[in-house]
Amino acid sequence: MLPTPLVVIFPVLLTFFAGSAQATSCNITNPCPASAPCCSEFGFCGTDHFCLGGCNPLASKSLDSCRNNPVCKDANHTFADNSRILSNSTFFDGNVTEYDWVVDKGTIMNTNSSGGELAMLLTETNGGTRLSSTRYLHYGTVTAKLKTGRWGGVVTAFITMSDIKDEIDWEFPGAATTEGQTNYFWQGYIPTVGTNGDIEKGLSDTFGNYHDYTIDWQPKALTFSIDGKVVRTIKQSDAIDPSGVSRYPNTPSRIQLSLWPAGIPASPPGTVEWAGGMINWKDPDYLSAGHFYALVKSVSIKCGDPEAPGANITSYKYGKNTTAETPSVAFSNQTVLLNGAGPIFGSGMQFRGAVAIVAGLLLASHIL
Ligand SMILES: *[C@@H]1O[C@H](CO)[C@@H](O)[C@H](O)[C@H]1NC(C)=O
Ligand SMILES: *[C@@H]1O[C@H](CO)[C@@H](O)[C@H](O)[C@H]1NC(C)=O
Ligand SMILES: *[C@@H]1O[C@H](CO)[C@@H](O)[C@H](O)[C@H]1NC(C)=O
Ligand SMILES: *[C@@H]1O[C@H](CO)[C@@H](O)[C@H](O)[C@H]1NC(C)=O
Ligand SMILES: *[C@@H]1O[C@H](CO)[C@@H](O)[C@H](O)[C@H]1NC(C)=O
Ligand SMILES: *[C@@H]1O[C@H](CO)[C@@H](O)[C@H](O)[C@H]1NC(C)=O
Ligand SMILES: *[C@@H]1O[C@H](CO)[C@@H](O)[C@H](O)[C@H]1NC(C)=O
Ligand SMILES: *[C@@H]1O[C@H](CO)[C@@H](O)[C@H](O)[C@H]1NC(C)=O
Repeated sequence: MLPTPLVVIFPVLLTFFAGSAQATSCNITNPCPASAPCCSEFGFCGTDHFCLGGCNPLASKSLDSCRNNPVCKDANHTFADNSRILSNSTFFDGNVTEYDWVVDKGTIMNTNSSGGELAMLLTETNGGTRLSSTRYLHYGTVTAKLKTGRWGGVVTAFITMSDIKDEIDWEFPGAATTEGQTNYFWQGYIPTVGTNGDIEKGLSDTFGNYHDYTIDWQPKALTFSIDGKVVRTIKQSDAIDPSGVSRYPNTPSRIQLSLWPAGIPASPPGTVEWAGGMINWKDPDYLSAGHFYALVKSVSIKCGDPEAPGANITSYKYGKNTTAETPSVAFSNQTVLLNGAGPIFGSGMQFRGAVAIVAGLLLASHIL
């Protein structure tokens, strides 16, 4: 089922968007200081938006430094226009009523054809585009109807990603428009040898045709489907390692959509090869449009919380480990707004702004 050379599929999204360390960096063994308590997705300490989507509770000052993860809500997102998308995540204030998505990086457009389509753009200078959902899901079924890129080295992706790097992927290297690849990671690691990367073949042109790609992530099994047909199933019980730790994605995750340049000199050779070679910036499609693109028609979300949240529940909150290596996740009614009343910053309001601006500039110049 799994051709040997493909067993080694890298957690490429993680590494590609990881940026370089300039501001105070953080990780699990080196958490953030009180002055800048939140460890961003990219591993930098800060305040304000650093405490929102992607903030890693295990690498922050304390488990409750990050804002809680906004709770899942069933939705069928369409893209008649881009009014539900905040074009720069730096300015997000946590209001999930106002925006369904934020742009973490890059450029979006709306084609305004057939009822509207979200276009994610890649240019030689923008480094690719990525959007994240403002809400999280803690298990659930997500279907994206999309058209991929068709250019070697250009990768289209639809994934779920938690703040501690549990990850479930659909990825489409552009050189193969009849294939989709599936993958999953536990806290940034490949769970067990041989369980990662799988390739689904024989799709009708993924550039020319919309297909429904589904991630059905439930506590006991993860299934991937195309146009409603299951193509791969992973059982939670198969992801238990010899020491008894379940290496199965189990923390609240954002939905991310992206188009990114894997075929560039900065990528490891294995990633370039996996993606179908170096990007040809003289491709006639690129020259005529001025960008590469991928199109998203809709994203539907059916939440799969093992217990339904009560009416006042706003969010998911991390707690201490329930078992070795697995933090607990509980419902919470705390605010998810940056400026809302909450337990996160007791004092030092003026300091916050300054740290955020300096850290934000550093972060922006190296990542965004
Ligand atoms: C954590 O960060 C410290 C300081 O930057 C670094 O020395 C260490 O290697 C990092 N650890 C991991 C696991 O990345
Ligand atoms: C989304 O669409 C599906 C299929 O049409 C429907 O069953 C479901 O109720 C919709 N969900 C929401 C939140 O509108
Ligand atoms: C959040 O956004 C909604 C919709 O735009 C708005 O009505 C509401 O006042 C906002 N809430 C806050 C606290 O800003
Ligand atoms: C988002 O805003 C920041 C701060 O103004 C800026 O540095 C960054 O380039 C912007 N990002 C995008 C994708 O426009
Ligand atoms: C989108 O297309 C519709 C009909 O095709 C047109 O009426 C509308 O003005 C267009 N909107 C934009 C923003 O181009
Ligand atoms: C929800 O909030 C209202 C008003 O704050 C309160 O009266 C009610 O008891 C709360 N319900 C739950 C289930 O927490
Ligand atoms: C959970 O356990 C792992 C391994 O012992 C440890 O590295 C991690 O810091 C713990 N996390 C929490 C939130 O206690
Ligand atoms: C929030 O939850 C706590 C218990 O965890 C409860 O005492 C409080 O009344 C709740 N607040 C609201 C507004 O529901």
